[in-house]
Formats: sequence, C-alpha cells, structure tokens
Amino acid sequence: TASSGLPVRVDLLTGHFDAINVQHKSTCMRDLQGVFSDDAARKALPEDFEVYHVEMLASPQQEGELHTGTTHLMPGKVADEFFMTRGHFHQRREQAEFYFGLRGEGILLLQPENAPAYTEQVFAGSVHHIPSFTAHRLVNTGHDVLSALAVWPVIAGHDYQSLQPDGFRIRVFDRDGKVSLEVAGV
Ligand code: 6PG
Ligand code: NI
Repeated sequence: TASSGLPVRVDLLTGHFDAINVQHKSTCMRDLQGVFSDDAARKALPEDFEVYHVEMLASPQQEGELHTGTTHLMPGKVADEFFMTRGHFHQRREQAEFYFGLRGEGILLLQPENAPAYTEQVFAGSVHHIPSFTAHRLVNTGHDVLSALAVWPVIAGHDYQSLQPDGFRIRVFDRDGKVSLEVAGV
C-alpha cells in the first residue's frame, strides 16, 4: 500500500518554515561593507544589527536539485538609502531563479550582464522570474519586514565579486518620503 508522509509547511503570510531541518543565514551591518553608497553612515550604525536573514530547507547537494529559502529583510535606511541585500550573480551564470513576494513592500533590482538594469515591485503575491545571467538584489522600501520566498538550483552558487566596486547601477533612496530610483553616473 502507498504511504503518505507529512509534508513540510510554510506559513505563506511570513515565509517561515515548519520543518525539522531549517538552516539560517544571518547578514549583519558589519557584513555589508561597501554595499551602501554612504559607507561612513553604515559604519556609524550598530555592527551587530541584523539587516536580513535567510531560512532554508535542507536540499540534496547535487546537480538537478533545488534550494528553497525565504529572505526576511528588515525595514530601515543607511543615510537615505533603503536597506537591501548584498545582491549577486549566480556563480553559474546560466542558472535562473524564482522569487515570490510574501509580505512587506519593496523592489527587486535586476541587472543583466549585457543589458540595462531594471526593477520589479515586490509585494504579497508578486512573482518574479530572475533570468539567467542576471544579478539580483532585494530592497525594502516599506515600514515592515519584507519577506520573499525563493527557489533556485543548488548548483547556482553566488558570485558577489563581479558587482564590485560600484555595485548595481540602480540605487533606491528615500527622498523626502518618496521612493527614488537613481541610476549611477547620471
Ligand atoms: C540565492 C537567492 C537568495 C539570496 C538571499 C540573500 O541565490 O541564494 O537569490 O536566497 O541569497 O536573498 O541575498 P545575498 O545572497 O545577495 O546576500
Ligand atoms: Ni540568487
């Protein structure tokens, strides 16, 4: 006879997993050197403040398998620039990814290797295809935690280096209470 196990649950309002084997990765202010346009302002903030954390289900580490994880990005700013993830290309550039907005309000920055950068609004229910060869970064433009569920190939890996020293061409600031997308070098 067939058997039926209890599946893992995710709370779709928060992205929290109810599973035995959840891994956590925390990124604090001290880890984000050089990420914000005003690094002196970043240094002046508490270094152990957690800007975002990722909770992930355990996945088999082999080609063809997929990671599933939720990023929780705090609201806040470094000077006038909204909190954001470090952002990355996948080490394996051809590997794509999906993001699903669960709560909060933000912007997904997308930067193809050989095409202009663009953005998508992130909100509860938003679905985002991150194409191959495209760097990606989440920005929290709201007053609450921004949480997004992601699914990506385990072989994708991260390349944080290729975006240095200037980072993404689009940056997101709070200018007098308005969300302002600003293109570097303009
Ligand atoms: C990935 C996903 C996602 C991402 C987190 C943290 O490829 O792993 O895009 O889980 O890692 O949102 O962002 P950073 O890796 O850029 O710090
Ligand atoms: Ni990714």
